[in-house]
Amino acid sequence: MSSQQRRTAKITAIGKYLPDKILSNFDLEKMVDTTDEWIWSRTGIRERHLVRDGEATSHMATQAALDLLRKRQLDPKKIDCIIVATVTPDMFFPATACLVQNNLGATRAWGFDLSAACSGFLFALDTGARMIESGQYSNVLVIGADTMSAILDYTDRATCVLFGDGAGAVLLEPCEEGTEGIIDSILRCDGSGAEYLYMEGGGSLLPPTAETVANKQHFLVQDGRAVFKYAVKWMADISAEVAERNSLTSQDIRLFIPHQANKRIIDASAERLGLTEDQLLSNIDRYANTTAATIPLGMADAVEDGRLQPGDNVILAAFGAGFTWGGMYIRWSKIH
Ligand code: COA
Repeated sequence: MSSQQRRTAKITAIGKYLPDKILSNFDLEKMVDTTDEWIWSRTGIRERHLVRDGEATSHMATQAALDLLRKRQLDPKKIDCIIVATVTPDMFFPATACLVQNNLGATRAWGFDLSAACSGFLFALDTGARMIESGQYSNVLVIGADTMSAILDYTDRATCVLFGDGAGAVLLEPCEEGTEGIIDSILRCDGSGAEYLYMEGGGSLLPPTAETVANKQHFLVQDGRAVFKYAVKWMADISAEVAERNSLTSQDIRLFIPHQANKRIIDASAERLGLTEDQLLSNIDRYANTTAATIPLGMADAVEDGRLQPGDNVILAAFGAGFTWGGMYIRWSKIH
């Protein structure tokens, strides 16, 4: 790349980690008043992975990063920055990114956590790309990791069936602008949606007490119908907006990788883009909603399945608590 050319970021390696413990819909039938048939038909979920006692977000994030470093054959000392998107950090502080940095031996890196729920990975990917573009950093590790099982009430059938645990990681490196990599993104948030999906206990507004624990205020709360309504509209709208802004027709898009919260939301967004089944990545049946991990896990699966080749046009889209949402256009690069 000459000094005249502007640089942007491309994804050069992907890693993933899913805990080996699996909780199926049939297992959930024994825990709450639900059925495999209800969960499958309303959400598209069959099973989800859960961490074991003692494992948390930094563990999964580290494993995903190690998988990536192994594939890229990269010395961890070459990593400049680590961004961990999560709403389930090991603890309030230090940041999960610091724990991952130490686990990896990434001794030259700085890092931070980014909180944007199910849009967290997309926000982190965009942030990492801008860091590469600045010219100051050349190896940015972007991780999406969430231990949703830590904040779910396993007596509440309306929420506990929907989520799983997992982590995915990508490496961003520089490339010449316009040829490949992250071409465009549109990101949004609207805090008026905060009342529909939240966990209120344990923060500075409502510090933990015996009462907050008794009131189950340390668990995720969701108005499923309201979130569904907004997710269907805004994820579809932003996917279409990013495609249109880049003059991409349905035939131009090789793969659409949307956030995996509900198969009906995924299908509605794909339909809006005019895509067929083979242009859509859906793995919600095996993982459920892994919050910040869903998009990197989707990318990892697409690469493993040979569904993406260099030059392919890929659209990413997400919607989550906040509300937060976004769409991104990537021209796919060679992945190690
Ligand atoms: N098993 C059986 N019945 C259940 C159930 C379960 N696990 N969970 C809820 N129900 C019941 C409800 O109690 C309700 O019964 P009622 O009619 O007697 O009150 C009925 O099923 C329908 O509930 P409803 O909430 O209208 O279902 P739905 O079709 O909207 O599906 C969700 C519920 C949560 C799957 C759906 O709203 C959804 O996916 N929302 C968006 C979730 C999301 O995207 N979250 C993350 C954002 S990133």
